[in-house]
Amino acid sequence: MTDRVPSLRQAYAPHFRVGAAVNAATVHTHAHLLEGHFSSITPENEMKWERIHPAEDTYSFSAADQIVLFARDHGMFVRGHTLVWHNQTPGWVFRDALGQSAPAKLVERRLEAHIAEVVGHYRGDVGCWDVVNEAVIDQGDGWLRPSPWREALGDDYIEKAFRVAHQADPDALLFYNDYNETKPFKRDRILRLLEHLLDRGVPIHGVGLQMHVSLDDPPIEEMEEAIERYRALGLRLHVTELDVSVYPWVHEPDRPQPPARPYDDELAERLAVRYEALFALFLKHRDAIDNVTLWGVADDSTWRDDFPVKGRKDWPLLFDIHHRPKEALWRVMRLART
Ligand code: GLA
Repeated sequence: MTDRVPSLRQAYAPHFRVGAAVNAATVHTHAHLLEGHFSSITPENEMKWERIHPAEDTYSFSAADQIVLFARDHGMFVRGHTLVWHNQTPGWVFRDALGQSAPAKLVERRLEAHIAEVVGHYRGDVGCWDVVNEAVIDQGDGWLRPSPWREALGDDYIEKAFRVAHQADPDALLFYNDYNETKPFKRDRILRLLEHLLDRGVPIHGVGLQMHVSLDDPPIEEMEEAIERYRALGLRLHVTELDVSVYPWVHEPDRPQPPARPYDDELAERLAVRYEALFALFLKHRDAIDNVTLWGVADDSTWRDDFPVKGRKDWPLLFDIHHRPKEALWRVMRLART
């Protein structure tokens, strides 16, 4: 059935790559959709520090290698995700042999070794890296979030990470990646960080816009303004983690969350309208956008089922739980031809 569906990858080939996040399971279970429709792949977790470098002298490349091989076999671009983040990084990185806070020199050496080893391992196979993920605050004073990286190394850990990554693979494109990236408060702080890095001659080539959005939020105008500001810096743009939750994005844990809703025609239509508006925006800015990656392949495997409410079914992607195209996919395909 699905192989008669026209290819999303081909439809968008003249415009930008369309990608999907995969994991060690979905690269097999969703292979038929990946082969037909996607020209880029991002390992959801397999390249994160805790997976790929679980102990000081242990690198564990095999799960990520399988994904990279799959991409190579199918002529797909690989987005490397992610080298430096405050989450999914093991505690040993920041501790010394006695379990105390490690001195800056030691943490710095570990950062350098990790990036050199991982980027070096995938040199030639991974086309770009999310070098630093989510370093900017969402609210409050200042601009960078408190993190063990910052505590150990100060604000310069970001610059350091980019320089080491560039040394390890001078051909890889290097990205800063973040969420809530279109909200004016956060956007302005991300812009400040990017400008700071560019002023200092740091090898950074692009900004990753995660775009975990909802049906109505953020409004398209807000998203467009952010895209215009980012592209004005001369950086390339990748949409890195696109999905459309059918629930509002509620941050405050105490605020009541709406109950699960079934996937029905009305919801299918609302998702289609939202996806159409998003892809129309991306197409409008296609001269600055090289890659639009969805954070998953089909609705049967999505992190949104557990975030922010564990076990509440969500319907955020372009293929349904049976791997069939949703109305949103047809709209997005139709747009590509206009
Ligand atoms: C962030 C990270 C991703 C992923 C999602 C949730 O956006 O960048 O790697 O962990 O959260 O799945």
